[in-house]
Amino acid sequence: MQKKTVETSYTIYNFDELTVSYQNLINKAKEQVTKAYAPYSGFHVGAALELENGEVFAASNQENSAYPSGLCAERVAMFFANAQFPEVPVITIAIAAFTKGNFMLEPITPCGSCRQVLLETEMRFEKDINILLYGTQSIFLIKNVKQLLPLCFEKSSLQG
Ligand code: THU
Repeated sequence: MQKKTVETSYTIYNFDELTVSYQNLINKAKEQVTKAYAPYSGFHVGAALELENGEVFAASNQENSAYPSGLCAERVAMFFANAQFPEVPVITIAIAAFTKGNFMLEPITPCGSCRQVLLETEMRFEKDINILLYGTQSIFLIKNVKQLLPLCFEKSSLQG
């Protein structure tokens, strides 16, 4: 028998400690929560991502009366960016969530399905995607999606 441990590392910042470009991306994610369509959960999420060519795409979660048909903000943003610029890597994504009249004190982290979708883009372009998770009290910076999804299923898994 062999025991293995997988570690995830991330850094915690205050808003003021971040670079201006990270601050701008977080502000875009925060703006997006106002555009969420979340009548069922009341949980408003904004995601903003930056491409290597400087383009920025931002989106919000889009819910549906048939609940599973809705989509998280991260996937709306990522699929749209990849559809518009299929040749350009994504370098950073910022995520903010707002509920019951306030932004979250501590950041939320992307759901499992979003992690899988973000990972595909990271692998596809062989370029780390920095993840900024916004909370009013702390901001997490994770250096790539692999940190969020260790032991993942990926393209090479299909090779057998
Ligand atoms: N949601 C996101 O948009 N992103 C996340 O990271 C977590 C959850 C959405 C899905 C649903 O519309 C609502 O938040 C509650 O789960």
